Parts: sequence; C-alpha cells; structure tokens
Amino acid sequence: MKRLLLPLLLLLPAVVSNGAGADSPTPKPKPKPLYEFRPGSYDGIGKWFLGREIAHFMSHQGAPWLEREERETEEEPTRLVAALDLKPGNHVGDVGAGSGYLTWRLAKAVGPTGHVYANDIQPEMLTILRTNVAARGVSNVTPVLGEVTDPKLPEAALDLIILVDVYHECDHPLEMAAAMTRSLRPGGRLVLVEYRGEEKWVPIKPLHKMTEAQVRQELALQQLAFVTNLAVLPRQHILVFRKSEER
Ligand SMILES: C[S@@+](CC[C@H](N)C(=O)[O-])C[C@H]1O[C@@H](n2cnc3c(N)ncnc32)[C@H](O)[C@@H]1O
Repeated sequence: MKRLLLPLLLLLPAVVSNGAGADSPTPKPKPKPLYEFRPGSYDGIGKWFLGREIAHFMSHQGAPWLEREERETEEEPTRLVAALDLKPGNHVGDVGAGSGYLTWRLAKAVGPTGHVYANDIQPEMLTILRTNVAARGVSNVTPVLGEVTDPKLPEAALDLIILVDVYHECDHPLEMAAAMTRSLRPGGRLVLVEYRGEEKWVPIKPLHKMTEAQVRQELALQQLAFVTNLAVLPRQHILVFRKSEER
C-alpha cells in the first residue's frame, strides 16, 4: 500500500495544477513568431496571437453604448462586483476602464480606505470617466493614461486587476498581461471578463468574444495560475488567475 501511495502523492500537485504548480506556475514558452500578421477581417486588426485575431479597440465615441440601460440585465454588474469578493481597503486596477461603468462600482466596494486605478489608452475615455465617477460621489479613483504595452499601474501593489470586455482588443496582449502581472502583489488576482465565445447565441461579434480555452492558453505564458471560471453572469466568463505568493 505504502509503495502505491508515495508515487501517487508525488503526482498530486502536478495533477491539481495542470503540471504548472498552483502557487508558482512555470510560464509556457512564447510562440515564435510572437504575433502573426496577415490581411485581417472587418472587426480585426490583422494581427494574431496564438491563433486568435485581435479585435479593433472600441472608440470613445462608443461610450454611450457602454452606459446603456440594458447593460444592467445583460451583464449584471452588481453580481459581477459581488463575485469578486473585494475587501474594504483593497487596491484595484480597472484596466480599459472606458467610461467608468465598473470603476465607481469597484470604488464603492473597496470603500474610502481602498483605491481604484482606472486605466485606459484613450484620454477621451478618461475625461468621460472622471465625470461619471464624480457624479457617483466617489473620490478614491485615480485615472491612469496607459500605453498599449504598459497600463502604467503601480508595481507589485494591487490586490486585483480586472478587465471587462477589454483583453480581446489589447493589440499587445502578451506585453499587457506581463505588465499587469508585475503590478499585482504576491497572491493578487487578475480577472478577465469576456463574452463567452463558446456560445453562439451571445449576440456579440465573434472577435469580441473569447473562449475560456483561448484565455487560459494565452495567460499560461505568464507567471499566473488559473483559479476558476465564476459562472454567475448571463453572457460573460469571469476568469480568475492568481499571481504566486512567493516574493
Ligand atoms: C469595450 S470597452 C470596455 C470599457 C469598460 N471596461 C466597460 O466594461 O465598460 C474597451 C476599452 O478598452 C480600452 N483598451 C483597449 N486596449 C487597451 C489597452 N491595451 N490598455 C488599456 N485600455 C485598452 C479601450 O480604449 C476601451 O475604452
């Protein structure tokens, strides 16, 4: 019996964490070439990462769509924020924050002792965000103008970084994911919310949806362990990854 048990016990961590080790995953090697370029589709930029064509980013002119009333029922933002299990005092990065639809909700969830860094690459979005956040009476938000390869968030400081409907349109996803991982504190979480690419009925253009498998494949190149897919939203995945506790 003992003879059988030992090999089994040695195997266990590899089985649980898919070979990576849940607390200190070994990033998968980067593909060569990293990105591929060919004539793109209408909604894409002609650049592929691990077989996925990257979508055009949403212009600030689309901000009213982000604030549409139906979003409450389509995306259930209150349920999303509750599922994140944020604590008062947490420091959060809202990357690709757009008009701030999630930002002020996150800011309320972490309370006055917490903080939200609301990042975007479009200064026009941050202007709209400032107005929307001020209208909700929250003051624990810092807007941050990022670059396509670097969200310019504090280093090793954040408890959670969230991207809602953003990652599929990052034109340098590997560089963005690496920079965000650096900004997490040890044990911090990276959360990607994406419309579910597995489900045809979800009424979003294909390049603006992602499958769980695709997201996990891409983030396996980072120092992150996949934790769970919180299946609580009507149309979106909530994919949770964690940075190792090791310093
Ligand atoms: C579809 S909107 C979502 C906005 C917001 N997260 C929401 O759910 O309302 C996508 C946003 O991501 C931003 N974005 C795209 N690429 C980005 C990048 N590399 N870094 C930061 N923001 C980015 C766009 O400027 C746009 O504001």
